Amino acid sequence: MLYESVLKPALFRFDPEDVHDFFIGAGEFLGENGLPAALVGSAYGYRGPDISTAVDGIRYRTPFLLSAGFDYNARLSGILPHIGLGGEEAGSVTARPCLGNPKPRLARLPHSESILVNKGLRNDGVDAVIRRLKARGARSREDGFVVGISIARTNDARSSSVEAGIDDYAYSFRRLNEEGVGDYYTINISCPNSFGGEAFTSPALLRRLLAALERIPCAKPVYVKMPLNLPWEDFRGLLGVMDKARVQGAVIGNLNKDYASLADRSEAPVGYCGGLSGAPCERPSTDLIRKTRQAFGRRFTIFGVGGVMSPETAMAKFDAGADLVQLITGLIYKGPGLMKELCRAYAVRRH
Ligand SMILES: Cc1cc2nc3c(=O)[nH]c(=O)nc-3n(C[C@H](O)[C@H](O)[C@H](O)COP(=O)(O)O)c2cc1C
Repeated sequence: MLYESVLKPALFRFDPEDVHDFFIGAGEFLGENGLPAALVGSAYGYRGPDISTAVDGIRYRTPFLLSAGFDYNARLSGILPHIGLGGEEAGSVTARPCLGNPKPRLARLPHSESILVNKGLRNDGVDAVIRRLKARGARSREDGFVVGISIARTNDARSSSVEAGIDDYAYSFRRLNEEGVGDYYTINISCPNSFGGEAFTSPALLRRLLAALERIPCAKPVYVKMPLNLPWEDFRGLLGVMDKARVQGAVIGNLNKDYASLADRSEAPVGYCGGLSGAPCERPSTDLIRKTRQAFGRRFTIFGVGGVMSPETAMAKFDAGADLVQLITGLIYKGPGLMKELCRAYAVRRH
């Protein structure tokens, strides 16, 4: 209530990326200091029946994760367990640091409960993220809080050919495995706003990419972040490739590129490009989760992501077949109090 009536109107007066950067800095500070973190926990933590869950041998204290794209550089793993999250997908990280696309690269579309994202994978690069997570791992790690790492291709001309793109993914994947950093890995083949586009969303190229990654020893679960706008038969074709590869599951899905899905189309800034988060993703992602579960049974672990703005939209993801749920935009529009609502709704469903 306080967030939606007081804090959000104030925050929404500022540039979205400045607000994002502020929250990363503040969240990192809070997470590194016991007393402030405990205070955040007493306001926003979930204290109810046990809703922990084990998926692919990993225990999540709650079935909700922060989705990739908020904590690019893995700075928030200290504070997120205190607001009812069972994990985060840090990144997407890339082999080399990325400055991101030219600004402005984020726009709020409040009537449509969406964010227009043209970030271009701004991140410090995989080696910096490994150093940060290793340094934090030396301190205490919250039990049951999972840190997955999303890996994307570096957003520049050097990595835009197929061969260079595969080498780029492989470098990050190898380094993370060598250093033992991250509880699971997600291969993000569906970033809609980077150099070279979504090359690996064709079955032939996805097969090549996954074959290259399979040559790298890895004992952790591997997932693929799926595009949202492919027709079902094409989407199914990608799942068919994953079915025969060392892939445990799918994150369904990424941003929506269909501007017709906006509740208020006039909100989209003229001449702007990028993908849509939030409410416009809700229906397409839930449909793809349902179809994936129907077509492939329990073959894949499914992370349901897209437009989780309420307990109802979260439960719809589980009803459709998701094992775990991720979100970003719901937290931006509804505030951290949303997490308690989601956890309580899940507890009622389970007990
Ligand atoms: C600002 C922003 C940046 C994002 N960057 C990434 C990214 O780097 N990698 C990725 O896999 N998804 C990225 N996404 C997509 C989200 O992970 C998620 O799939 C999408 O926003 C739908 O979820 P939501 O409706 O809960 O926000 C980004 C989303 C937002 C809002």
